[in-house]
Amino acid sequence: MSINMVADHARWPIANDPIFEISGRAKNAIAEFGKENVIDATLGALYDDEGNIICMKSVYDELKNMPNEKIAAYAPLAGTPGFLKSVETACFGEYKPEAHIRAVATPGGTGAVKHAICNYANTGDSILVGDWYWSPYATIAEEIGKKIETFTLFNEEGNFNLASFKEHFEALMKKQKRVLTILNTPAHNPTGYSISDDEWDEILNIFKNAAKDENNRVVLLVDTAYIDFAGVGLEKRSFFKKFSNLPENLFVMIAYSMSKGYTMYGMRSGAAIGISSNEDIAIEFQYSCMHSGRANWSNGTRGAMEVMSSIYADPAKLNAYLEEVKETKQLLQSRAKIFVDEAEKIGLKTLTYRDGFFITIEHPEPKKLMEELTKQNLYLVSLKKGIRFAICAVSGEKCKKAAGIIKKTIDSLN
Ligand SMILES: Cc1ncc(COP(=O)(O)O)c(C=O)c1O
Repeated sequence: MSINMVADHARWPIANDPIFEISGRAKNAIAEFGKENVIDATLGALYDDEGNIICMKSVYDELKNMPNEKIAAYAPLAGTPGFLKSVETACFGEYKPEAHIRAVATPGGTGAVKHAICNYANTGDSILVGDWYWSPYATIAEEIGKKIETFTLFNEEGNFNLASFKEHFEALMKKQKRVLTILNTPAHNPTGYSISDDEWDEILNIFKNAAKDENNRVVLLVDTAYIDFAGVGLEKRSFFKKFSNLPENLFVMIAYSMSKGYTMYGMRSGAAIGISSNEDIAIEFQYSCMHSGRANWSNGTRGAMEVMSSIYADPAKLNAYLEEVKETKQLLQSRAKIFVDEAEKIGLKTLTYRDGFFITIEHPEPKKLMEELTKQNLYLVSLKKGIRFAICAVSGEKCKKAAGIIKKTIDSLN
């Protein structure tokens, strides 16, 4: 390029998003070879066994029957009152912490991640995440002059690496006096890991210890994008209760998303939820998010907010919706079991999977492995240190077949 017209801070590589790019290649392969001959495990959205995107009827009936003016009107900056009331119930279930809680509507969980990175880390500071992480955390951080630092997510047993987390968190705290940590759990993207209640206790002890110094600012963002697909009932939400009565310099936020749990990926809705033992800190959170909202996207998607509030206002609709979530979750869990069982049987090592949309396999040459797999019409995403297979997007039969293809291909590259 001869000259740049964008400002200095806005110069980024001329490259497409790698996930959407490989997904486009999979779509081309389907057009050429037929969908029965291609495994497209690229995208993080739920598809049925025939390859059609799942759209929950209870959600879309509500949207389609909604008066136009409810969809058309602007929502208040913080979100509609009905949405703000129901989103707390939708998020916490019976595990609402004893604390001052404020919610602000956002365009998807991404909006909440943006709020956290924008408002709770200083310019030039590093944000702490595990070494397997959703890459938009880095995109969002670097766009506004912040960095990502990683701890090692897994220990040798394949559980949460508390020692690495502690080491990085404490060193960063010493240096910055303020640390924003992002933990994506339950049903982590890309690995499918869910932090256990015991691990949560240890993590919170590390935070509370740092909070003993009143000059420190300990901030945690829990990214719960996949929470509706974790566990059997609501039990994987039990960790929320642990956010009760925390020290006032330990602030917790939740990034809540309607994308997966309501199959509303394109409707862009979610919330940032702030939790504090101090009401002023919760209010400060609410107003700084509203300011950021105004500065970035104005307000959230009204139609999506109305869908949630009308479902939550009517027990029959809520039951129908929860029933659909349950069915979809069971479908996902049956695919996960097929993949994990087959992987175990044939000796394909995966990272610890507990819940969620993806299973990940560590590999030293992920791009090469991904390209080899495309030659066999298997499309998935290559990450920095491995490959990510989206069980949400393919049938159980294809999950089983894919595990075998991946194992053989890895062996052939050795
Ligand atoms: C880890 C993680 N966090 C947050 C999100 C936010 O998604 P959305 O903005 O669509 O709610 C996603 C979506 O893919 C995700 O994978």
